[in-house]
Amino acid sequence: MTFLGIDCVEFGASDLKLAKKFFSDWGLLCKSFTSSKLVFETQIGSQIIIRPEASKLLRAKISPDSQFREVIFGVRSVADLVAIAKELSVDREVEQDEDGTLHTVDDSGIQIGFRVWTHTLEKPQVGTIWNSPGNRRRINQVSPVYASAAPFKMGHIVFFVPDTKRAEDFYRQRLGFCLSDRYVGGAGVFLRWAQQSEHHNLFFIKSRKNDVNLHHIAFEVNDVHEMLGGGLAFSKKGWATEVGPGRHPISSAYFWYFKNPLGGAIEYFCDSDYVNADWKPRQYRINRFSEWHLADGIVQRDDGKIRPSLAAAQAMKAK
Ligand SMILES: [Fe+2]
Repeated sequence: MTFLGIDCVEFGASDLKLAKKFFSDWGLLCKSFTSSKLVFETQIGSQIIIRPEASKLLRAKISPDSQFREVIFGVRSVADLVAIAKELSVDREVEQDEDGTLHTVDDSGIQIGFRVWTHTLEKPQVGTIWNSPGNRRRINQVSPVYASAAPFKMGHIVFFVPDTKRAEDFYRQRLGFCLSDRYVGGAGVFLRWAQQSEHHNLFFIKSRKNDVNLHHIAFEVNDVHEMLGGGLAFSKKGWATEVGPGRHPISSAYFWYFKNPLGGAIEYFCDSDYVNADWKPRQYRINRFSEWHLADGIVQRDDGKIRPSLAAAQAMKAK
């Protein structure tokens, strides 16, 4: 099974106009807007689809407080779809649309789908040129300035689950995902869909409430210039920051998260670690910066020093 990307994420919405403004301001391309369906695309053509919450075409909400409905992964070929259907139909229902898209539910109860990837793959490019002490490569040339972001693709999606080991086992044992890193004690696990890939394409965080929910969807942008320019522009349009801007100690990515009125958060990120079969998964005992846990209601102490693990943060909260 060869996975190539996140093809589509579907939401319901009580207010389609608000959803349209939110994702337009985010920098996605609005491909169509009718009273029954709103379609946005990243630069490569992967989609966010939003339907009115009363639509019969929508799958169930992931939780009462979130409009997330389904994530669809892109695979290389029809043979991959056949292999996935064969593997998963052993112990669950797997539906297939007329266009070949598969729909099912993972072991955590998250609605997932699979279809053949039709979007642009990455093309080699020079990338951003940086100056640093002893390495002055950008000469007589100013850095790019972004008045807004235009997200390239969705790079990863993150969920709260009651049992991260159960989630990990499903994606590794049934779909061939690889382990990138984890927090010990089941606090979190980072997975990628191929040995050579971004550090994580899926990340599961242990839910303190023992429920399942969307944590965030991450949109990759070119570089920190676009992340900051995009984040500033999005803020100026009135959308609230969840956390950031900042840099993840795990995966090295620069990030800026915003609250999503449809549930969870959305993230601009760039410069994530890219790993291959030589990568050795690490076991983190202490979260050097527990940014991922903030959305679950844990507030960091404002002393500039505390970088608690989830367990430590829970203990702090209990005091
Ligand atoms: Fe992320």
